[in-house]
Amino acid sequence: MRINATNRPENYDALFDRLVASARYKYNLENGCMMKKVTGVTMFVLLVSTSPVSIADNDARQLVRLPEMMQQHMMSNMRDHLTAINEILVHMGDGDLDAAAEIAEQRLGMSALQSHGASHMAKFMPEGMRQAGTSMHRAASRFALKAEEGDPLPAYKMLAEITSACTVCHSGYRIK
Ligand code: HEC
Repeated sequence: MRINATNRPENYDALFDRLVASARYKYNLENGCMMKKVTGVTMFVLLVSTSPVSIADNDARQLVRLPEMMQQHMMSNMRDHLTAINEILVHMGDGDLDAAAEIAEQRLGMSALQSHGASHMAKFMPEGMRQAGTSMHRAASRFALKAEEGDPLPAYKMLAEITSACTVCHSGYRIK
C-alpha cells in the first residue's frame, strides 16, 4: 500500500508497532526460529498487504512547510541524531552501556526535547509527525534505562525501537 492523503495512518503508534513487529519477524526468520511455514506465509501476505511503507519511486511523503530557520535547525538536529545513534553503537560494541545510555538520554531522549526546541517546532507539524517525534524521544529514554541495567541484548532490542521511530517519520514526511 502506498501512503497518500487518504490512506495515511492516523495512528502512528500502530504503525510503529507494526514496523517493529515486521523487523522482529524478519529477524526470527533469519535466525531459524520455530515459526511454522504456513504462519509465515500468512504473516507475509498480511505484512505486504497492510504495510504503509512505500518502496515505490514516486515520493508520497507529506510535505511539511517549516520556516527556513526552523528547517535548518531541524536538519542540524537530524544530523546529530544520526551521529548519536552511531556513538551509541560504538559504545555498545565496546560494552560501555552506561556511556550509550547517557548519549541516548541527553541527545535523543526526553532530556533532549528542550534543547531541540521541540515545543516551537511541534506547532508546525501534523499530528502524525508529532507522534513519531514523541515516540522517538520516549524510546530513547526507555533505551537509556534498559542499557543502564547492563544486559546488552535487551538494550539492542530497545535501540531498534528508536531507529524504528526514525524510519516511521522518514517514510511519512518531508520538509523539502
Ligand atoms: C518526527 C519526524 C522525524 C523523526 C522522529 C526523525 N526524523 Fe530525521 N528527518 C525528518 C525529516 C522530515 C527529514 C527531512 C527529509 C526531507 O525533507 O527529505 C529528516 C532528515 C534526516 C536526515 C538528513 C539530514 C540532512 O542534513 O540531510 C538524517 C541524517 C536524519 N533525518 C536522521 C534521523 C535519525 C537517525 C532519527 C532517529 C534517531 C531521525 N532522523 C528521526 C524527520 C524525522
